[in-house]
Amino acid sequence: MNKTNNRIVSGMRPTGPLHFGHYFGVLVNWMKLQESHDCYFFVADWHAMTSEYADPKRIKQFVPQLVLDWVAAGLDPEKCVIYQQSAVKEIAELHLILSMITPLGWLERCPTYKEVKQQLVQKDLNTYGFLGYPVLMSSDILMFKPGAVPVGQDQLPHLELCREIARRFNHLNDTPFFPEPQDMLTPDAKLPGLDGRKMSKSYGNAIGLGESMEEIQPKVMKMLTDASRMRKSDPGDPEVCNLFPYHKTMTSEEDQAMIQAGCRDASWGCVDCKKKLLESMQTFITPLQERRAALLKNPDELWAILERGNVTARAAAQATMEELRNTLNFNF
Ligand code: TRP
Repeated sequence: MNKTNNRIVSGMRPTGPLHFGHYFGVLVNWMKLQESHDCYFFVADWHAMTSEYADPKRIKQFVPQLVLDWVAAGLDPEKCVIYQQSAVKEIAELHLILSMITPLGWLERCPTYKEVKQQLVQKDLNTYGFLGYPVLMSSDILMFKPGAVPVGQDQLPHLELCREIARRFNHLNDTPFFPEPQDMLTPDAKLPGLDGRKMSKSYGNAIGLGESMEEIQPKVMKMLTDASRMRKSDPGDPEVCNLFPYHKTMTSEEDQAMIQAGCRDASWGCVDCKKKLLESMQTFITPLQERRAALLKNPDELWAILERGNVTARAAAQATMEELRNTLNFNF
């Protein structure tokens, strides 16, 4: 056990506003971790550039917006380090050094490299930076020598590569310099999109964390329910209804039992169920909206939160890099 084993590092790319799927998938997990772990959470703006390089100016507005979404959701800058990747220049230096030792074949074989390249045909991702994305991600992680990295399933190949790079570095330099970070898999998304598919802005089936009840209401009223329940007098099945996962995450257990019974014996209709969900959502979203409004009164504070985190992250990064330059005899 190394002494930083309680540390975790994770990041998100600033590419747009977050939605309820992010909240119940990633953020709930991060908020739990901030109570028990030494958390480093960062805005991965250099990563956003791998796909947005043709218009990097767009990225800047999304940086404070991501911090706004995080802090309004309940991440507490007093409990975790919130920082901006590009403000820690040491990460670029580590990326350079790790790129020297990373075999091309490891990157070319990375499944996410092959997939994303096919998906994003409209953008030219045939770049050196995109191929090297996992090396940059390894630098983000290894810089802070965390015990674990909370990520979604899709990021596991990157984390495996990160461990391989760490192992190779340690082997080449004959020192256990980088501890191998474990993966801490984020539980599966508990909340599907409005249409039952994975919630995603690009599917147009998302509810943004910053949306008002006026914006949310028509979306909820249009949601599809149990398709076999044609009339209110037909019994329904909450297990196949797309509304029920929403109740599961936002409605009290007592009311959930009432809803299930009412749906099954047809004493309660889908419109009633949606109205009840809107009430639950209102209760859920009110504290988030209050925090958001307070933060928006003084938007400079979002940059100030980042800057305070940047100072802490930079100090840790400088310590790692000094040690690393000594190890490599590159301490000129
Ligand atoms: N690649 C991650 C994503 O797209 C974001 C990310 C960048 C990250 N660096 C990281 C996550 C380091 C965890 C640790 O979601």
